[in-house]
Amino acid sequence: MSPVAEAAYRTITVKPRAHGFGAEVTGADLSRPLDAATLGEVRTAWARHAVLSFPNQPLSLDELEAFTLQIGPFGDDPYVAPMPGHPNVLEVRREPDETLSPFGGAWHSDWSFQAAPPAATILRSEVIPPVGGDTLFCDAARAYDALDEATKAQLAPMKAVHSASRAYGPKSQYARELDQRSMPIIVSPEADKTCVHPLVRTHPVTGRKALFISPVYTVGIEGMAPNAAAPLLAGLYQHMTQDQFIYRHVWREGMVLIWDNRCTMHNAMGGYDGHRRVMHRTTVAGETPV
Ligand code: OGA
Ligand code: MN
Repeated sequence: MSPVAEAAYRTITVKPRAHGFGAEVTGADLSRPLDAATLGEVRTAWARHAVLSFPNQPLSLDELEAFTLQIGPFGDDPYVAPMPGHPNVLEVRREPDETLSPFGGAWHSDWSFQAAPPAATILRSEVIPPVGGDTLFCDAARAYDALDEATKAQLAPMKAVHSASRAYGPKSQYARELDQRSMPIIVSPEADKTCVHPLVRTHPVTGRKALFISPVYTVGIEGMAPNAAAPLLAGLYQHMTQDQFIYRHVWREGMVLIWDNRCTMHNAMGGYDGHRRVMHRTTVAGETPV
């Protein structure tokens, strides 16, 4: 067994969700620097469970930044203007009178069109609506494991083409709706650029393989005709988003959530028209997918 699989916890309490995907962590105060033992256990729990929620951690923006830097250096966040005075924090906001789909409201892994997409995204809830506004997570490692051997062999050499075009390009959904959103979304022709990653990537910490594709950012498969790639990808999305691979995160205010973009997809749910929802968000830089 790997060290990740063996270690017990001495500083924090970790309550895993179904199938070990997602866990709630208590017993650490994220508003202050974590000692080496606690930080090590948080990293272990994160490697095991991919999505960690920390209830009752109403961090200030400065504390959120400091906690993020304990996990790793900030990632580079394009296409949304940062908060004034906080160049590494985005505000995910939806006002009571907004009627369009929420930001992040389709399956994706954050900024997967980058050459080195963020390892982690950290979201701290500020205002949570009384209904709706959950975030769904898909376990892309368990979904990979569940594929039959022939499919795994077929996918092994494939490279997926990623692009921000559907979200942030001049012809995207956001481009048509800019004036109807309170978030400062930046539409740019840059978004039409593409970047190629292995369709199955290997996690640098756990060594587990995961499907690294999403309907928002994967626009094709390298060397494959669009009319062959599209049904293959659609079948994989259908497989990945079966109930057995999904964790539905229900928010409370003052909660910190950290997820691993290297082995998950996520999808922001609506269902709270008439209510405000406000989150603050940082990313942690990642590595080139292999
Ligand atoms: C994000 C995102 C989901 C949510 O911030 O990247 O997808 O539920 N957010 O707000
Ligand atoms: Mn997202």
